[in-house]
Amino acid sequence: MVKINTMAIKSFNDSAHHSKMENERAFVNPTRTQIALVLLISNLKRCLRYHRFIDDINLKGDELVLDFGSGWGDNTRYISDALDKGGRVIALDISSKWQDIIRKRLKGRKNIEYVNSDVRTAGLPDSSFDVIVIHYVLHEVPIKDRQPTVKELASKLKPGGFIHLREPAKKGHGMPIEEVRSLMSEVGLKESLKAEKKANFQVRYMRCG
Ligand SMILES: C[S@@+](CC[C@H](N)C(=O)[O-])C[C@H]1O[C@@H](n2cnc3c(N)ncnc32)[C@H](O)[C@@H]1O
Repeated sequence: MVKINTMAIKSFNDSAHHSKMENERAFVNPTRTQIALVLLISNLKRCLRYHRFIDDINLKGDELVLDFGSGWGDNTRYISDALDKGGRVIALDISSKWQDIIRKRLKGRKNIEYVNSDVRTAGLPDSSFDVIVIHYVLHEVPIKDRQPTVKELASKLKPGGFIHLREPAKKGHGMPIEEVRSLMSEVGLKESLKAEKKANFQVRYMRCG
């Protein structure tokens, strides 16, 4: 049984910056300047930040993967490269702006499908995904929507499938690992791998039955 420090989660989420972020939701509806900046950084730093994260999944190449909150597609690109034995990746994002950009950036790749939707209304088949990738997304989801969203994601995993997640952990930008742990344990997912740093944490959550 996972012991959760609910007071710590509340204090973290009550921070002034967090409330501001809740209102602005910059990543869901970015300005042109924000898009330009993100793509510039992406082009400079992509290899460092994303390659290793996707390598850590150890994909065989034939899996069905959901890239939840795929954004501008840096993870999707590496997942698509790794799925070289018939696998497919669904790049889902609630933001139509990022969906337009990812479609252009990854044009021509045959093993990617794009879904512009909230996962709760996307109509994805239950128990169908080997892996769900969540990279810097859950902390962007409004607090009230996090549990239903995680519940929906968990229902899309095959038995034996897992969520591969990395989130920022700073008070000014991120969420506490205890909250992720609580969200995942409520839907019966088991934590199986963890790397915790000051700035972020990387964890795997497995559907056992
Ligand atoms: C910080 S960006 C990360 C993008 C990408 N995962 C990466 O690491 O490069 C967060 C992304 O999550 C998306 N997002 C936020 N809330 C979402 C939700 N409820 N469902 C799907 N995508 C969401 C945003 O539109 C944005 O593209």
